[in-house]
Amino acid sequence: MQRGQFSSRFGFLMAAAGSAVGLGNIWSFPTNTAESGGGAFVLVYLVLTFLLAYPALMAELTIGRHTQSNVVGALDKLATGPFSRIAAKFVGLGGVLTASMILSFYAIVAGWMLSYLLVPVAQVTGATGAEAWLTGGSPANPGNWWFFTAIFAALTMMIIGKGIENGIEKWSSRLMPSLLGLLIALIIYVMMQPGAMKGLQVYLVPNFDHIGPNLILSALGQAFFSLSLGVGTMLVYGSYLSKQENLPKLGASLALIDVGIAFTAGLLIIPALFVAEAAGTEIYADGSLIAGPDLILQVLPKLFESMGSIGMLVSFAFFALMSIAALTSSISMLEVPVSYLIERFGLSRNRATQIAGSLILAFSSLIVFNFASLFGLVADLATVYFEPLLGAGFCIFVGWIWNRNSLINSIAEGAPEVKDSLFMKIWPTYVKFFCPALILLVLAQTLNLFG
Ligand code: PHE
Repeated sequence: MQRGQFSSRFGFLMAAAGSAVGLGNIWSFPTNTAESGGGAFVLVYLVLTFLLAYPALMAELTIGRHTQSNVVGALDKLATGPFSRIAAKFVGLGGVLTASMILSFYAIVAGWMLSYLLVPVAQVTGATGAEAWLTGGSPANPGNWWFFTAIFAALTMMIIGKGIENGIEKWSSRLMPSLLGLLIALIIYVMMQPGAMKGLQVYLVPNFDHIGPNLILSALGQAFFSLSLGVGTMLVYGSYLSKQENLPKLGASLALIDVGIAFTAGLLIIPALFVAEAAGTEIYADGSLIAGPDLILQVLPKLFESMGSIGMLVSFAFFALMSIAALTSSISMLEVPVSYLIERFGLSRNRATQIAGSLILAFSSLIVFNFASLFGLVADLATVYFEPLLGAGFCIFVGWIWNRNSLINSIAEGAPEVKDSLFMKIWPTYVKFFCPALILLVLAQTLNLFG
């Protein structure tokens, strides 16, 4: 069967950046930063991205491009004996499962973004009843949450059903430039409002008192989640990449775009929080900054409301930004199980999309209707434990199972100059020993294995 491919380097970069730049950048990164010491968190995050996330990203991209397979098939191709074949199944299917778990809770949050996107529309048309319904979802009353989760899942499935070039690449190349435009326009507007400078200070002036094991842990989780690592997404996108490309360079551009947009999003969200304060909204709860859903779904909407009619436009732009960021990420999650079903069971793309999409939506529904007990649990399991663990798994495959010469030749394909680069001198050894060891160490810390 003919496999799809990205048509150009730009197309790949937009798709992979679209995957990386998501609610993780625009929502979690700024709020994590606000909660944990402003600039200090930013610094630790940058260091960890460079030290651990970038090398792990390279592991996934190289495996993908070399094997030109879905995540399970790719590891299976690298396996050399019975033990590594079993490990390939574990890590590969673990990736398929984790990508699906992430999508199942991500689609719920993305559904909130879609419903808030429609609020200004309801206001302009004077549909007060609709406005109340749009913002009225809660764990006890999850009807509209479910509705918008389903709409979002349908959008995701529509794009993935169209394939690599006509679906993923086309939509990412359209949506990512709009995302950047919206982000910049919003920052300019917010910076001109009273209170913004105070927010900028909280964001950028480091408070080193906060640096400790917990901060490092949450920065590592953030770095992995933000680069879409540990679930096979980057591996699969790498598998649609031409052999002509210089991989270390492409990977570095990708990491820079991701970090750059996360940092830029902080310039929007944290100042906006303090603009809201200047406009009379409470932004502290129990002595610390309001974060998480309340920040996005309560504080910011109050701010938009206080801005009068321009607030409707700002609110629309903001939730459009969020929805776009979520959609270009969610398609990359769905592609992990879909590519597996296509290549493992010989299904058509449409059939595979329907099966994977409906199973994930069914699981999302279970979470929506049991929100209090399931949402945090699924999110934590997938992002705090499975992602880093599987990320270490990919590094181990590259470092210990893949023959070193074959690895080097594969990376240098299409870009022979890479053979003599600093990257090649350091990375193969680094990814073999340091990456898995450091990741496992941090995980052991989380699990309190050291008491
Ligand atoms: N990187 C995405 C974000 O920042 C989330 C993601 C995780 C996407 C795993 C794909 C796979 O929101």
